[in-house]
Amino acid sequence: MTPALEEIDLDFADLGRTGLQTSELQLGTWRFGKENEAGELEIGEERATELLDAYEAAGGRYIDTADVYGGGDSERWIGDWLADRDRERYTIASKIYWQTREGDPNSRGTNRKSLRHRIDALLDRLDTDYVDVLYIHRWDDETPAREMMKTLNGLVESGKVHYLGASTLRPNAWKVARANEIARNEGWEPFTLLQPRYNLADREIEGDYLEFAREQGLAVCPWSPLGQGFLTGKYDREEDLPEDSRVAASSRFQESYLTEENFALHDELDAVADEVDASPAQVALAWLQHREGVSAPIVGARTVDQLRENLASATIDLSDEQVDRLTAAKEGPYDDL
Ligand SMILES: NC(=O)c1ccc[n+]([C@@H]2O[C@H](COP(=O)([O-])OP(=O)(O)OC[C@H]3O[C@@H](n4cnc5c(N)ncnc54)[C@H](OP(=O)(O)O)[C@@H]3O)[C@@H](O)[C@H]2O)c1
Repeated sequence: MTPALEEIDLDFADLGRTGLQTSELQLGTWRFGKENEAGELEIGEERATELLDAYEAAGGRYIDTADVYGGGDSERWIGDWLADRDRERYTIASKIYWQTREGDPNSRGTNRKSLRHRIDALLDRLDTDYVDVLYIHRWDDETPAREMMKTLNGLVESGKVHYLGASTLRPNAWKVARANEIARNEGWEPFTLLQPRYNLADREIEGDYLEFAREQGLAVCPWSPLGQGFLTGKYDREEDLPEDSRVAASSRFQESYLTEENFALHDELDAVADEVDASPAQVALAWLQHREGVSAPIVGARTVDQLRENLASATIDLSDEQVDRLTAAKEGPYDDL
């Protein structure tokens, strides 16, 4: 049975070598204020507030957002919620990269103009003087790494940002490594966190990306830890897609996740879930927390019930044998090397 929120009592975990202690599960707010492909609001302000309350009740203190989530509503609603609380008790991460103004190429990327303007705009929406973590949401090939790192360092020195992170996919790992080398040579702040996509069905970052993170002591905070909801057991080989679900609403997600290889992996996930009397979602999250180098997954949820189920994964114990079986259920990118 899923424990009550107050009984979950999330622990703190090291955020890489930053020295910061962060919740072992972070709260993702990507879908706050987001319209789905049918034009309906997935999570409105009232539900967003309920989700933040529920996360807090379970002991959660780390909130992940981005300046483009819900066109800024995600940050605005978090700011409103934080206004009644002691800001110092929370770790807030946001991100900058995607274009914010139609027809204005300078409102995209990580050039000096974009970074300096957007940090002020997002602090205003969050109604705070600083973010604990600022991520570049994607790598910007148009801006020289030296210019970007110098500007980011200025944001840290000004006190508007405490730590820098890079949310990038595997092919850009070497660019982050090079940018960190420039920053260290110049005495500037380097990236100390990474935010990649990582889940049981999508292990693209295993190998060089995770090795790089380990070698540099970077915190790894995986996004989409449940494969957009695929790893929760609600999709079936034979049955129609459940209405009102993210994968059902997106042909792109159906193509990436609803494959026979992934359903075979899900069979093993179901078997382990039965053994430990937990749900597939809880086991998929617990597996991630067992992966070497993972600091804290970012949990997404559309409802408070989903969030409670997901946060309760922190109370699940998996044996080494169960972790190995799950890992072997789908070939990783480097298994044959
Ligand atoms: N840096 C980046 O580029 C990036 C990209 C993506 C996400 N992120 C961050 O990572 C966070 C998490 O990503 P994500 O939302 O993709 O995570 P996810 O856990 O893979 O997917 C969450 C979705 O799965 C479904 N779900 C979750 N728990 C469930 C449960 N117990 N039972 C049934 N369905 C469940 C819900 O959608 P439905 O109910 O609609 O099916 C929910 O919205 C985001 O909020 C964001 O903060 C970052």
